[in-house]
Amino acid sequence: MNRLLPLFLLPALLGFASAAAAQSPGKAPAKSGQCTACHGADGQSRIPANPILRCQHQAYLASALQAYRSGSRKHPVMNSIANTLQPKDIQALSAWYANQPGCRR
Ligand code: HEC
Repeated sequence: MNRLLPLFLLPALLGFASAAAAQSPGKAPAKSGQCTACHGADGQSRIPANPILRCQHQAYLASALQAYRSGSRKHPVMNSIANTLQPKDIQALSAWYANQPGCRR
């Protein structure tokens, strides 16, 4: 019986692993390195002038970055940074900051 026990546990363990994966932010997008100095490594800015990105809604982050990129939202630093981002970067960055561990939805 003892030798069979791990087999009974397997589905539970696999289920747990996939649930954890669903909430994981995954690997940091390469371009997040450009954001760390101002917004913190995980988006938890410690600098009051710089907004916290961690756990913000993904759609909000994506639309803010698109607005900086198009110039409809003006901020000299963010306009020039957003100009270096492709739509796929905006998608990856906004998903990553929105899905940091411990976000409440
Ligand atoms: C030199 C500092 C600096 C860097 C680097 C920087 N940001 Fe920002 N970011 C800011 C500041 C300051 C603001 C607030 C601008 C404003 O008032 O609109 C901001 C605003 C934002 C916002 C809007 C947040 C909100 O609540 O409306 C997003 C999203 C954002 N940054 C994402 C990024 C990403 C992604 C990167 C890296 C690719 C990045 N930033 C790099 C300083 C920086």
